[in-house]
Parts: sequence; structure tokens; C-alpha cells
Amino acid sequence: MLTIGLNSKPKLSYAIFCQLREIIYARSGISFADTKIYLMESRILKRLEERNLRTFDDYYYFITYDPDRDREMANLLNSIVTNETSFFRDPVQLEGFTKGVIPRVVEAKLARGNKTIKVWSAACSTGEEPYTLAMMLVDEGLAMKGWTIDITGSDISDNVLRSANNATYDKYSLRNTPEQYIRKYFTNSGDSFVLRKHIADIVKYKKINLIDPAETRQLRDMDAIFCRNVLIYFDDASKKKAIGHLYDSLAKGGYLIMGFSESLHNITRLFKPVNIARSLVYQKS
Ligand SMILES: C[S@@+](CC[C@H](N)C(=O)[O-])C[C@H]1O[C@@H](n2cnc3c(N)ncnc32)[C@H](O)[C@@H]1O
Repeated sequence: MLTIGLNSKPKLSYAIFCQLREIIYARSGISFADTKIYLMESRILKRLEERNLRTFDDYYYFITYDPDRDREMANLLNSIVTNETSFFRDPVQLEGFTKGVIPRVVEAKLARGNKTIKVWSAACSTGEEPYTLAMMLVDEGLAMKGWTIDITGSDISDNVLRSANNATYDKYSLRNTPEQYIRKYFTNSGDSFVLRKHIADIVKYKKINLIDPAETRQLRDMDAIFCRNVLIYFDDASKKKAIGHLYDSLAKGGYLIMGFSESLHNITRLFKPVNIARSLVYQKS
């Protein structure tokens, strides 16, 4: 099998591409169409270099049989996932959450004498989404009114979670952030923007794979779950699995917020679609 090109840069053959995408799919639910072969090639190339392997065939054997294959699997996932995110991504949805969903949650929980709001940002990448929610909920004055805000950020990739825990960002991550939030909640030194500790401390991070029932079971009784811009990388079977797990993690009456272009159409009828403050959210009934 020809795996080395004329310029001696390793080439990913279609056969090995199929084997690798099968492994990635089984572990993460992420599905790669045939057209993504070059994308996969470029993303995995660094793994070959770091493991001192000459060809993608060698890499396939490494990840399948080597005693260090579990650690390599984590590295593979770190390099294969798309981490694109930013603070205040899709602000209409966020506004719908703080102005529409949260008052309903507050009312329902007050009636039960419970003053803790539990939010999960599932597949949070480098933390911009959960930290945005923390800033917005603090800005709503909830903490001042005696509420505890409990936000969990999670991802399958440990690299992004390490970065999220650092809570330090560059200007590009803040490209959609209103100036008053930058002034109020960040300290700026040189090119770095450090989130203030009282906001960073609201978010706790966990490594959770959305298609793994044992891992998602760690979180229960959530009032709201954000699961945005990750299921677009899944096929329908993995979407059904992940959504089933999120359903189990929500409290009765809790809300699921998906990405702007995502929906539960053809995935499940378990949720009730509700239009709140110009955004579509899904409620567990
Ligand atoms: C494009 S980012 C979305 C970040 C954020 N939710 C947003 O909308 O800006 C997608 C994230 O999903 C994560 N991811 C992919 N498959 C996953 C899985 N099976 N379980 C948990 N996270 C996963 C990736 O590591 C990546 O950080």
C-alpha cells in the first residue's frame, strides 16, 4: 500500500482513513464523511510526528495494539475535534436564556424552596460558553438575591479543559463580547485577558464524553443544558445517544438549548419545543 508521497510527507490512504474514522466514531460519536479525508490527514499528521511514526499505517497499528494506546486515543481526540467557540456566541439565544428561560426556572424553583440554579455547558471547548453564562447570570443579580449559581463545563478533550481552567484569553476570543463585560469581568495585561476569579470560580470542569452513559450520569437534576455546535459532527445514531443522556441529566421541566442551526427533528419526541424570547428551546416534560 502506497502511504508515502513524492515529497515524503506521509499520505493517508482511503483504507486507513476508514479504519481510523471507525475508531474515532466508536469512541466519540464524531462521524467523518469521505470528503474529510484530507482534513483528517492534516489533523493526525502531528500525532505521527510526536510518536515518531513514518506512515499512517504505523499510526493505525499503534493506536490499535500499542500498550500506550489509551493515552494516544486521548491525544487523537484532542487533535481531531473542532474547538471553534467564542464568548457571547449567538447572543440572541443567550438573551433568550437569561431573560426568558431563567425567570421561569427561578419561579419554579422558588415554589419548591430551592435557590440553586444548575446549568451544564456540555462540549464547552475552551470555556467561553460557560463563562459567558456565569457573567450573564451574575449580571442578572441572582447571586445578590441569594441564589447559588452552579455551572459545569465539560468536554471530551482534556486539552481544551486545561485551557478553560486557566481562564485566560486573547482578544480574538472576546470578539463578540460587549465592552462593558470586558471592563467589568476581565483584567487585561498585554495581549491577555484574565477572567476575574469570582466569575471563574462559578464554573467547575469535568471530562465527559456525551455518548458515554456512565460519564454523563455524573450530572443530574440540571435546570438547563447548553449543547451547542457539537451534534453537527455526529450522525443520527450518535445524536440519539447523546440527546438521551442529556434528557436523563435534566430535572423535570428543565431546558435543553441547542445551537442556532441544530434541532431535535427526527432525533427524539421526548422534549417539548418552546419558543421563548425569540429562541427555540426544548423542555423536558
Ligand atoms: C465547536 S466546539 C463547541 C463549543 C461551544 N459549545 C460553542 O458552541 O461555542 C465543539 C466541542 O465539542 C467537543 N466534543 C466533540 N465530541 C464530543 C463528545 N463525544 N463528548 C463531549 N464533547 C465532545 C469538542 O472537543 C469541541 O470542544
